This record gives sequence, structure tokens and C-alpha cells, in this order.
Amino acid sequence: TGLVTLDSGYGNTAAYKSAITYLDGEQGILRYRGYPIEQLAERSTFLEVAYLLINGELPKVDELSTFKNEITQHTLVHEDVKNFFRGFPRDAHPMAMLSSVVSALSTFYQDSHNPFDEQQRHLSTIRLLAKLPTIAAYAYKKSIGHPFVYPRNDLGYVENFLRMTFSVPAQEYDLDPVVVSALDKLLILHADHEQNCSTSTVRLVGSSQANMFASISAGISALWGPLHGGANQSVLEMLEGIQANGGDVDSFIRKVKNKEDGVRLMGFGHRVYKSFDPRAKIIKAAAHDVLSALGKSDELLDIALKLEEHALSDEYFVSRNLYPNVDFYTGLIYRAMGFPTEMFTVLFALGRLPGWIAQWHEMIKEPGSRIGRPRQIYTGEVLRDFVPVEAR
Ligand code: CMC
Repeated sequence: TGLVTLDSGYGNTAAYKSAITYLDGEQGILRYRGYPIEQLAERSTFLEVAYLLINGELPKVDELSTFKNEITQHTLVHEDVKNFFRGFPRDAHPMAMLSSVVSALSTFYQDSHNPFDEQQRHLSTIRLLAKLPTIAAYAYKKSIGHPFVYPRNDLGYVENFLRMTFSVPAQEYDLDPVVVSALDKLLILHADHEQNCSTSTVRLVGSSQANMFASISAGISALWGPLHGGANQSVLEMLEGIQANGGDVDSFIRKVKNKEDGVRLMGFGHRVYKSFDPRAKIIKAAAHDVLSALGKSDELLDIALKLEEHALSDEYFVSRNLYPNVDFYTGLIYRAMGFPTEMFTVLFALGRLPGWIAQWHEMIKEPGSRIGRPRQIYTGEVLRDFVPVEAR
């Protein structure tokens, strides 16, 4: 009842109250549960941040060890899950495999279907955090035709994922501490970002009281799109395109400004940040550090730096407050670590998982929480009389 106002793309409509993430887009501030992202990226670990987002407080020593232990105990997926991967075409996009298999987890864990059972909510949380890296690594193994590698209990969260992804039975993968710590930091930076498209999707699906696996699977699908998490893949493809065109940054920028074929400068712009994305600042520094520590020079990094420099001094981008976002430099780091471009958005999903889970919990526990149900402004025919098919 009452006046319905149109707010295309939810530019100005708060659909939820939340105590998880604070974001000030004018000043470029991002905090999880009150802690500045810069401090968390520098001093915390991904599992600690996951605990913080989901439970509201940083864990004490024993809480963290219980949490890690529980996750370690659930990293295996049911052997039948492998059959899903056998059925997918070899060139399937890993994001499609990820969302499908996560959705399928609700067929293996039918005890998860009541979102009001607190114990089951906890179990689903642990299962998801534990199994997503295994599923992500399997998706990669499927794409290259390698055997699946089982998780190992003596390894940390990121180490386990890297090993499941890159080792083969014939040869162990040499875990490089630089790669482990850089990936851990990147996961922290992606862990939550208030009501972005995928998180709102998780909440909307969850608001119908669908189970956590179904809700998170929908979030993964939303993340896949190139305007959201898929941008990290698109950035790298854009940089490769410019490289193939002789590194001609000027003509690419011209194309973007003329909006030729809808071309955008991928990895730039944000709905909420109207100044620098604080995550991008940290990632830009990390890109330099990781590339030099791994002894890799990358012509694409030079192209990215040039693009950024041009855009930041160009009236088109300045007047629209377009700055580099989280996705602009991540792909270069992932590439240096050995991930193929198609896996980039999967890494974003691994990072965003605790945020999705935390927001799902917050919504389910909110007293008086209602099903999400946007309104619309109807623009169709007002009233017409039915005409039989032969008389049309
Ligand atoms: N390149 C060129 N022009 C742009 C860009 C861009 N990356 N982003 C926005 N614009 C222009 C747009 O054409 C419009 O211009 P005009 O006023 O002349 O029509 C104006 O800026 C406002 O754009 P908008 O589409 O209304 O802005 P939005 O808030 O709806 O979109 C966005 C936000 C992130 C989808 C958009 O900036 C974009 O498409 N960026 C490129 C994709 C990308 O990097 N996405 C990752 C976002 S951050 C992490 C994540 O969410 O996953």
C-alpha cells in the first residue's frame, strides 16, 4: 500500500539493517565488524576474518583452534560428488560447476533444510567453508583432465586449496609462502562487501527460507557476471586484448569514452565508492610485491599501470568518479600464481563465502525478518478483451 517509488538497480534503497560491514563510499572506508580492512589484511588471517564476520567477534585462541579443527574435519566431499564433474563438459566454466555442485550439496545434506535449527546452521556453515575449496580445486582439475587430489589435514586452509589445485600424484606442489600469504590476504579483502549483487541475492533467496546451500549457490551465480565478480576475468581479457593490439592504451580509452559496442574499462567504477576503493590500494601494492617476489615481470602490469594513469587524469573518468576497484589488479596476481583466467572469479567466490554466510545468518536470526519482495511500476497494457486465436 502507499506510494511505490522506482529505484532502478537499488541505487538508494536499503533493504536490510546489518551490523557486519561498514562502507563509506565517499571517503573510501571499509570495515568488517568495526575493524579497518587495512588492519585485517595486514595482521589477520582469512579463517580468523571468516569467524569474525560470522560470529561478530575475533576468535580467542581456543575458539580459533576449534573452528579450524571443525573445518579440517569436513574438507572431503562425498565420493559421489565426483560424478557431477564427470558429467560436465571439459570446457565448462568453473563458476557454473561451482554453483551447480554447491546447490547439489543440499541433496547430500538433507538435514540442512530447516534454517531455524541452530545446530544444523552451524554444520552447514562448517561444511560450506570446508568444502568450497575442494570443489573449486576439482573444477580446475576437471578442466585440465587431471585426477582429483584429496585434502590433507595437516595443511592450512589456503595451503590445502593450493595443493589440491596444483599438485598431481606424480609430483607434490611446492608451497611458496609468498603465494600462500598473498592469497590469504586477497581472500580477506574479498570476504564481505555489504549489499552487493551476490550478497543481496543470497539474502533474497534465503528470505524465502530456502536452505543455506541453495542460497549460496544463487550467490555464486550472481557473482559470475562481468559487472560483478566476473570483472576480474574480464580485466585480464581486456589487458590481453590491448597487448595484442600493440599495447595501444590510448585507442582503448577512446573506445571506452565513445562507448563503442558498450566497451567499459573493466575493473573501474563502483556503485558505492566515489573515491578510491580501499581494497584496490592494498591489492595494487600486493601485485608489485608478489610479482617481484616470484621473479615474474608481466607486460600486462605495465599496461594496467598505464591505463590507470590515463584514466585518473581523464575528464570522462574523473567527472564520473571512476577509480580502480578490487578487480583491477587481482587478476595479475592470480596469473602470477599460476591460475588460469577462468578460475579468477572462483577465487573471488572462495573469499566472499564467509560474507554470504554471515549475511544469511543475520537475516535468518533477525526478528520479524520478512520475505524479500520488491515492488514494480507496471508499464503494460491497462485492460484488453481476449480475442480467439483465429480472429487475431
Ligand atoms: N568504464 C566506462 N564507463 C563507466 C564505467 C567503466 N568501468 N563504469 C561506469 N561508467 C560510466 C557509465 O557509462 C555511466 O556513464 P553515463 O553517465 O555517461 O551514462 C556512468 O559511468 C555511471 O555508470 P553506471 O553504470 O550507472 O554505474 P553503476 O553504479 O550502475 O555501475 C559498475 C557500477 C561497477 C557496474 C560499473 O562501474 C562497471 O560496469 N564497471 C566495470 C565492471 C567492474 O569492474 N565491476 C566490478 C565492480 S567492483 C567488485 C564487484 O562488485 O565484483
